[in-house]
Amino acid sequence: MSDTSSTNGRRIIVFDTTLRDGEQSPGATLTADEKLVVADALVELGVDVMEAGFPAASPGDFEAVRSIATRVKGCTVAGLARANKNDIERAAMAVKPAESPRIHTFIATSDIHLEYKLKKTRPEVLEIVTNMVGLAKSFTSDVEFSAEDATRSDWDYLVQVFSAAVAAGATTLNVPDTVGYTTPLEYAALIEYLNAHVVGSENVVFSVHCHDDLGLATANTLAAVAAGAGQVEVTMNAIGERAGNTSLEEVVMALDTRGQQFGGCHTGIVKNRLVPTSRLVSQLTGLVVAPNKAIIGANAFAHEAGIHQDGMLKNPDTYEIMKPTDVGWEGTRLVIGKHSGRAGFRNALEQTGIRLDDEQFAVAYQRFTELADRKKTVTAADLIALVEDQLEAEISTFHLVRWSASIGTGDQASASVVVRKGDQEVAGDGVGNGGIDALLEAIDSAIGIPCELEEYHVEAVTPGEDAQGLVRLRVRSGGNLYTGTGLATDVVEASARAYLAALSKVVNGQTTGEIPGPVSSVSRWS
Ligand code: KIV
Ligand code: ZN
Repeated sequence: MSDTSSTNGRRIIVFDTTLRDGEQSPGATLTADEKLVVADALVELGVDVMEAGFPAASPGDFEAVRSIATRVKGCTVAGLARANKNDIERAAMAVKPAESPRIHTFIATSDIHLEYKLKKTRPEVLEIVTNMVGLAKSFTSDVEFSAEDATRSDWDYLVQVFSAAVAAGATTLNVPDTVGYTTPLEYAALIEYLNAHVVGSENVVFSVHCHDDLGLATANTLAAVAAGAGQVEVTMNAIGERAGNTSLEEVVMALDTRGQQFGGCHTGIVKNRLVPTSRLVSQLTGLVVAPNKAIIGANAFAHEAGIHQDGMLKNPDTYEIMKPTDVGWEGTRLVIGKHSGRAGFRNALEQTGIRLDDEQFAVAYQRFTELADRKKTVTAADLIALVEDQLEAEISTFHLVRWSASIGTGDQASASVVVRKGDQEVAGDGVGNGGIDALLEAIDSAIGIPCELEEYHVEAVTPGEDAQGLVRLRVRSGGNLYTGTGLATDVVEASARAYLAALSKVVNGQTTGEIPGPVSSVSRWS
């Protein structure tokens, strides 16, 4: 079905911002180790540039970008910086170890941002662009400049700003649709206008960065590509601020399937890594993919209607414009068991896109053998969940030592727990409305950290009676939110693990942010 096979059109640069804009999704905060796991998977996916984070945001973000820059090979590593001296210096330091470092600096250019946010005039912003792009250029030859809120900016002012950025040394000019406001025809016209009027445009790459507030991010991105943009800024599973960013998988497969519509443009993405990478990102961020999501949703290649099934049996081309195997669906049906051994386990982890150091591998292997004893077949989803749980446990202050619960019809449930903190063990008892409620009460009585459960989500990692339960929850403490995930073949235990992970973050101050307006509060087990 692909119509690009015989073309030699432009190769579009895929700039992945899953670890920066994607990680800005409410509640999606990743630990430093999880970021490295995602970074490895993105390299395997074949992204050209990976925006690893915003180094000036916090010491943790700085370290995460620096470790990714140190580890990643074969891909440019970008660090985001506002157009000020401190941010740019932090970004420069963080990306310095990279094989191919990039500083991505930005400032808003729309009048509404200038007046209310920056409180600066157009000439003042223009001067900042010249000075700060110049500063970035003194650290790296590869400098990207973004005009935040470009799609609501005056076009002729944008031309001045971008021309100044090129003169100061920018090599990529990004035209963000920060608030998801533009439309395909308008965005394409803007790219053409900038290409025609920015001084030095022939020597730079125009980049597009869209948000999905009107559901137009993919359409806008593709329209801009057709109009000459050379770089697309995207995230896996379309995660990102508010309604999210442009979906990597949709843009890649649209170009692959209908490339001729876009002048034969294509990307270097390894298509059969799309589904495995999507699953990894979904599991580590806790952001569930809708079943009907294009390319990577569980139903994206499911055919329910009898007429469709009949057609599919006669010839899959009747109802399928892409092959599920091309985007990695078959690759994820990896199954291993207790006879697989270390090599089989390592291979399975690698296929899932996970790289662990030797120490982490040893712990993961031990947990895998325990799981394989209880569960006949272990799938890719099981492995990702297991590693996620392990990474969560590594940074946890509190560990579950043992627990018991007593539940039955008509009786109030009761539970006891022993929790370890360092070399100290504390015990607690609780009663509640069901086993999970009672066990969390028992944990509260053992540790005594004031908090309220805000959200609770449980899912079976795989189908089947022996499936592992994966619990994700959010607690509120002192006005901040903290997330935790827990995995076990028993959902009561998985809940306790998730709760302890979240409480560990409370004591370590690892918040996912302040409460963003009204959070739908789920009362415990009602
Ligand atoms: O949406 C946006 O404008 C951004 C910029 C920082 C590129 O994310
Ligand atoms: Zn953005």
